[in-house]
Amino acid sequence: MRPTLNLTAAATLCLISIGCSRQAEAPPPPITTAPRVAPPTAAPAPAPRMARATLMGLGGSTVTGDVTFTDSGNGISTEAHVNGLRPGKHGFHVHEVGDCSGDGTAAGDHFNPAASPHGGPDGTAMHAGDMGNIEAGPDGKATVTMLSHHFTLEAVGTTGTTGIIGRSVIVHENEDDLTSQPAGNAGARIACGRIEMVSGAMVMPAASAPMDGMDMPAASAPMGASAP
Ligand code: CU
Ligand code: ZN
Repeated sequence: MRPTLNLTAAATLCLISIGCSRQAEAPPPPITTAPRVAPPTAAPAPAPRMARATLMGLGGSTVTGDVTFTDSGNGISTEAHVNGLRPGKHGFHVHEVGDCSGDGTAAGDHFNPAASPHGGPDGTAMHAGDMGNIEAGPDGKATVTMLSHHFTLEAVGTTGTTGIIGRSVIVHENEDDLTSQPAGNAGARIACGRIEMVSGAMVMPAASAPMDGMDMPAASAPMGASAP
């Protein structure tokens, strides 16, 4: 009897050990799921769509700046950092055309897809590109953050677009009174920057892209321009 019990006990131990070894082999499957968890490739997807306009002075102006537009999923978050301004308020708008050549006139009128009258960013009647004013302190610097529900990060030429990619940001010499027509009596255009997509899904630009592409080299100019 006892030998039999011992054998049984041994067999039991064997089974247990086998069971253990089998359980030890079980983990591998989970390892295969590990790579699934790895889909960090899925993580980049949430990367916010972002666009940027590098502002350069017009007509001898030394104003420079950087404006970023980020799609928050609930409006476009706009952040602007502008330098070299006369202290006080300056009209700040998205204009129709992404052409900052010459005195800025080529940038066209305020971006206005709904054919509305000019107004302020908080008004009921306003151009989609009316971002109001930026206000510079004694140091000539202005920093502004605002949220807009009036335009999107789609490209110019997209059917029915409210998109601003390929358009421009203009800073004016004077304050935008938010009421005068057709552009707030904000005076001369002193800085301009073409709005370019920098991350996120890119919408193919209109056929005019090749010409606008010539602005690309100019975008790097601010760095050199800051030297003098
Ligand atoms: Cu303007
Ligand atoms: Zn306007």
